[in-house]
Amino acid sequence: MTTMQRVPVIIFGAGRVGRALVQQLVESRELHRRRDGLDLQVVAWCDRDGALVDDDGLGPEALRAAGTLKEGGARLAETPLGYRQDDLRAIVDVAGTDGCVVADVTATGETVPALELALQRGYGAATANKVPLSGPQETFDRLTGSGRFRYESTVGSAVPVIEATLGLLRAADRVDAVRGALSGTLGFLFTGLQAGGLFSVLVAEALQRGYTEPDPRADLGGLDVARKALILARTLGWRLELRDVELESLVPPALADLPLHEFMARLAELDAEFAARVAAAGGQGHVLRYVAEIAGGHVRVGRQAVAADSPIGRLRGTDNLVAFHTRYYPDEPLVLQGRGAGVDAAAAGVHADIVALAKCRL
Ligand SMILES: NC(=O)c1ccc[n+]([C@@H]2O[C@H](COP(=O)([O-])OP(=O)(O)OC[C@H]3O[C@@H](n4cnc5c(N)ncnc54)[C@H](OP(=O)(O)O)[C@@H]3O)[C@@H](O)[C@H]2O)c1
Repeated sequence: MTTMQRVPVIIFGAGRVGRALVQQLVESRELHRRRDGLDLQVVAWCDRDGALVDDDGLGPEALRAAGTLKEGGARLAETPLGYRQDDLRAIVDVAGTDGCVVADVTATGETVPALELALQRGYGAATANKVPLSGPQETFDRLTGSGRFRYESTVGSAVPVIEATLGLLRAADRVDAVRGALSGTLGFLFTGLQAGGLFSVLVAEALQRGYTEPDPRADLGGLDVARKALILARTLGWRLELRDVELESLVPPALADLPLHEFMARLAELDAEFAARVAAAGGQGHVLRYVAEIAGGHVRVGRQAVAADSPIGRLRGTDNLVAFHTRYYPDEPLVLQGRGAGVDAAAAGVHADIVALAKCRL
């Protein structure tokens, strides 16, 4: 008979991905017990200033109720089992025990001290949070150097881009170039442009569908893609900082600091330039895409005219795609493609990382 391994899980972040992750862990608990011999128990769940903690595992009802209250805008500290906290390291201290895994589904660098403490204690950590890994190289080195830090959801959501990269490295493959479409939002805009849509109309539609952040400039600025490209390059072993990534923003400086409503009102000023670029690319059998490129010692994210029949050229809608050109994939690249938007996919990537970390210890 297989012995059941208890896996205490501490979760930082109770936003969209955090709530989806908790729901997935609650729903799949029996499956992991039966199939994997792992009993995943959420022992702590934190937002910015509050926490729910129970060393014996928070029950499904308490977790569901807290998730519903959070969705309605409450603080975790205000929920029935909640209390105020202002230091995630203390949560690691109180709730962590052998075999513990910490999941970071926030979007802040403030989690780094607590993640480092967890790793020092010998716990595992799984993250969807790009900020720590795209901060100073030395932070990336400290976190990933532990061998117990997994970050699949930071690049390409749940599409296993990091695992594929590590697989190529394990085989001593030589990676010559990586090209990716790493933003579902920008994918939607550029395939919409290709179909003849106006930039301003497409941005408004993406905002209305919830594909963009509340201020679309957060997506159009390209920083999110730059962070993903940096994490991918560092995973390949490159040593560089965010400032070394060549970044083309789609927001001209004149529109960067306007109030949101003025920005949206003036977006149409960009329509002609986008249409001209799309037409110029089309004249040469190319299509315009927002591409992250890691090649020849440089990391660049920005607009690129790519062959219409290339993997990125064929991509439609919000899917993410990464193409690896390597020694063992010399003619056609190794291509990974899949859903690049949606909180369930992001949470699934963290979920899989938690289980992988727990299985390493069986
Ligand atoms: N949404 C997606 O499709 C997607 C896909 C891939 C990766 N991701 C990544 O997943 C992460 C979470 O995304 P999301 O959409 O869930 O974001 P979100 O809705 O903004 O939630 C962020 C959560 O982090 C909490 N938080 C912020 N600072 C904190 C701190 N110092 N200590 C503890 N908790 C803190 C927030 O607390 P409060 O509730 O108190 O504000 C909130 O609960 C991000 O890094 C994002 O880039 C998202």
